[in-house]
Amino acid sequence: MTVLVLGGAGYVGSHAVDMLIKKGYDVAVVDNLVTGHREAVPSTVRFYEGDVRDRAFMEKVFTIEKNIEGLMHFCAYSLVGESMQRPAMYFDNNVGGCITILEMMEQFNVKHIVFSSTAATFGVPEESPISEKTPQNPINPYGESKLIMEKMMKWQSEATDMTYVALRYFNVAGAAGDGHIGEAHKNETHLIPIILQVALGKRDQITIYGDDYKTEDGTCVRDYIDMEDLINAHIKALEYLKAGGMSDQFNLGSSHGYSNLEVLETARKVTGKEIPSQMGERRPGDPDSLVADSTKAGEILDWHVAHDLEHIIENAWKWHSSHPDGY
Ligand code: UFG
Repeated sequence: MTVLVLGGAGYVGSHAVDMLIKKGYDVAVVDNLVTGHREAVPSTVRFYEGDVRDRAFMEKVFTIEKNIEGLMHFCAYSLVGESMQRPAMYFDNNVGGCITILEMMEQFNVKHIVFSSTAATFGVPEESPISEKTPQNPINPYGESKLIMEKMMKWQSEATDMTYVALRYFNVAGAAGDGHIGEAHKNETHLIPIILQVALGKRDQITIYGDDYKTEDGTCVRDYIDMEDLINAHIKALEYLKAGGMSDQFNLGSSHGYSNLEVLETARKVTGKEIPSQMGERRPGDPDSLVADSTKAGEILDWHVAHDLEHIIENAWKWHSSHPDGY
């Protein structure tokens, strides 16, 4: 039986493909290579280059892949800032893509999907840590698009016999332990890769966006989740659905927040580099603190975080230092 990985050439998707293969699953990949990298997927994996919004293309894939028992969805756009500039593009790709995917599941009788959702669906959270009961009020088109997708899956699962798990990621970072795949965005905006690019000498310094937040040292606090822990959650979620588990949503984080300055200090320790920094203005749309309460994922999926921030940065550093120009 096959797991079809949608967006399998992207940062998170390529790590899912890697771990699924290592665990003995049969894997096929769909990716339009807009942000993904063909080199991130082994040449032995069945690879379909095309767009999930393209119905004729998707029908072809589902016709060829006769044994799909589950989908993993990693094919959404995911940058908060970009979504504020281009909301229509985000709703088109994310929500539009989701429509075709759900239609294909119905048409070809595919029962399960594990979906990458996000902490951005909570907006400025009403409480911390953030549990599944915390109200979702997104404050940007990216978070809104993922919340709409969660709701589409909920209605579809009520109307048909498909089941889904939505995994709301907090801040994903890190890379495969052997450093052969990792994070390679054309325009990097995330804290840890930018810090490591400074450590490599590819940038002069890191600008920390604001130190007047309501946190201990004044810089924003985020909950970092290791790539391997994250993919483990996907595999556990898929197995849970295959075993007859009900559709559900889980918040995935370590339940531990690190301030931006703590992340910087950890990176200095791991890399042994000075990593020059300066304090800058706030970046619009950044909540003070985002920390997950992942108790529910522990109880229902038996998912537990194994890796801390230091391990995350160690693996990210292995990738960045061995692939300074990405793929
Ligand atoms: N930051 C800096 N300087 C930089 C880049 C980032 O200070 O050069 C700060 C940000 O202001 C923020 C923190 O580092 O305070 C983390 O920022 P990232 O851009 O790395 O990540 P975000 O928290 O903005 O967003 C990420 C994902 C979202 C997801 C969110 C959930 O990109 O998709 O985590 O927690 F919704």
